[in-house]
Amino acid sequence: MIDLDQLRTEALAQIAAAPDDAALAALRVKLLGRKSELTAALRGLGALPKEERGPRGKHTNEVKQAVEQALEQRASELAQLAESDLGKREWLDLSLPAPTTPRGHLHPITQIEDELDDLFRGMGYRVVEGPWIEDEFHNFDALNIPDWHPTREDWDTFWLTDGNLMRTHTSPSQIRAMRRFGAPLRAVLPGRCFRNEAVDATHEAVFNQIEGLVIDRDIRPGHLFHTINAILSVIVGPGVETRFRPGYFPFTEPSFECDVKRPDGSWMELCGMGMVHPHVLRAGGLDPAEWTGFAFGLGIDRLAMTRFGIEDIRWMNSGDLRFLEQF
Ligand code: PHE
Repeated sequence: MIDLDQLRTEALAQIAAAPDDAALAALRVKLLGRKSELTAALRGLGALPKEERGPRGKHTNEVKQAVEQALEQRASELAQLAESDLGKREWLDLSLPAPTTPRGHLHPITQIEDELDDLFRGMGYRVVEGPWIEDEFHNFDALNIPDWHPTREDWDTFWLTDGNLMRTHTSPSQIRAMRRFGAPLRAVLPGRCFRNEAVDATHEAVFNQIEGLVIDRDIRPGHLFHTINAILSVIVGPGVETRFRPGYFPFTEPSFECDVKRPDGSWMELCGMGMVHPHVLRAGGLDPAEWTGFAFGLGIDRLAMTRFGIEDIRWMNSGDLRFLEQF
């Protein structure tokens, strides 16, 4: 016959030492299962002489209850321990590397702008930035848009109370560059522009352009088309499809528009361009009899949309990390 008191002592010690739920479950089977010593002891009761059966039965059941109780108690202890995570937190390894501060990264527009700057520098252009706040002269008059000219209506201008304005395109920087550097000249003039637009998936009131300006002798439209295609095949990819069509800008003659094919097959207007108008050369202090040039204004936001497959321009300024963390 087994020693019930010894069984109890050993069982309670094992239960108290069970490290986790799995160990506890194994103990339950071992101590109370069909093949356990306790089950065998209960079964064996019937074979005992009558006068022993009562006291031995009582004793066996007490031990069984004690084991059951101990199992319950340990289970709830383990549950509490897991909840407070005490086991983990009390153990401190000072040799572990410290958690790193998460690093940010450049906005997709900044990435594209940096790439464009690099590309153009490699083609001999200088990169210069013009002011965001412009005067009427640079934004309109010098670009062959006198105040009676209906095209002024094309730009939904944010006027400032002092008569200045938030520049509606980067083209005013053409005048500043010509006046500052003279000819010959190759410059790109990137930066932020502002229009009081009806905002939708491809129009934002605050957007970014990169203006290109090349002034030299005998510059022709072919130089312009080649430059645009060369840039887009790097930024968007070698297979990029472009479409050039006639356009109208008061500051270029002739003028063109360049569209780019989006992943969904639709065309998106990306870039206005043309041969610099003689009036504009003159406003820049250059003699149109001697100098010719081309200019273009490329929408950086839209280029980033094409490059990264972004469907809505409004996400660009949203500041939403779920969007930004994808780039
Ligand atoms: N400034 C024009 C625009 O914003 C683009 C352009 C730039 C067109 C240079 C011709 C030459 O739409």
